[in-house]
Amino acid sequence: MQTAIVTLFPELFAVFLDTSFVKRARETNRLGVHLEQLREHGLGRHRSVDDTPYGGGSGMVMRPDCVVAAMEAAECAIGGRAVRVLLTPQGEPFRQSVAEELSAQERLLLVCGRYEGFDERVRLFVDREVSLGDFVLTGGEVAAMAIIEACVRLLPDVLGNAVSSVEESFSAAWGGGLEYPQFTRPPEFRGHGVPEVLVSGNHARIAAWRREQATERTAARRPDLERRNPGVGRS
Ligand code: ADE
Repeated sequence: MQTAIVTLFPELFAVFLDTSFVKRARETNRLGVHLEQLREHGLGRHRSVDDTPYGGGSGMVMRPDCVVAAMEAAECAIGGRAVRVLLTPQGEPFRQSVAEELSAQERLLLVCGRYEGFDERVRLFVDREVSLGDFVLTGGEVAAMAIIEACVRLLPDVLGNAVSSVEESFSAAWGGGLEYPQFTRPPEFRGHGVPEVLVSGNHARIAAWRREQATERTAARRPDLERRNPGVGRS
């Protein structure tokens, strides 16, 4: 998967790209990441990429000519047209199903804004808009990292144990619900033990207990997931 990120702050990605699964995916050529500095497409002596809003008002608005030029340069760098994703609080909420769709793309372009927002015409040049959640970030960079991390885990052969991305919370294969509770050693911790079934050695009972726990937990904590995916956590 080839990705490109349009950003005014490429340095924010340095440690992220050089750590853990993302690092390994890059080293093994499963993931390519190109950082396109938006400032290079800015105008004038200060390489401005924003301007005052027509009609007045406070704040600045990102210019469409600079943003689209950066998007096109970024696509050139990764070998062609990509699925273009604008990161904005006005986008569709990012969830596992979106990660699954995006991770299946050959090329992905993530466009990070800063300041007050994008000129509306930028939206005519993207394929989808994605929000990390119902809160406002200063820019899209943290959202871009979240999307890349969620997508990379879904690429074939990136996680050591392929089963783990299928069984974890929200995965479609698991029914879109929350995962069952997990335990490891010690068998007793500050007076709290481990459910007897998990040390019973009875795999059918363990599987049934886990399904039941996942269903209960999803209903208690995220009833919205149950409504969206009837049958969550049930086999
Ligand atoms: N940029 C600013 N806020 C954002 C959000 N919630 N999601 C994605 N990009 C953003």
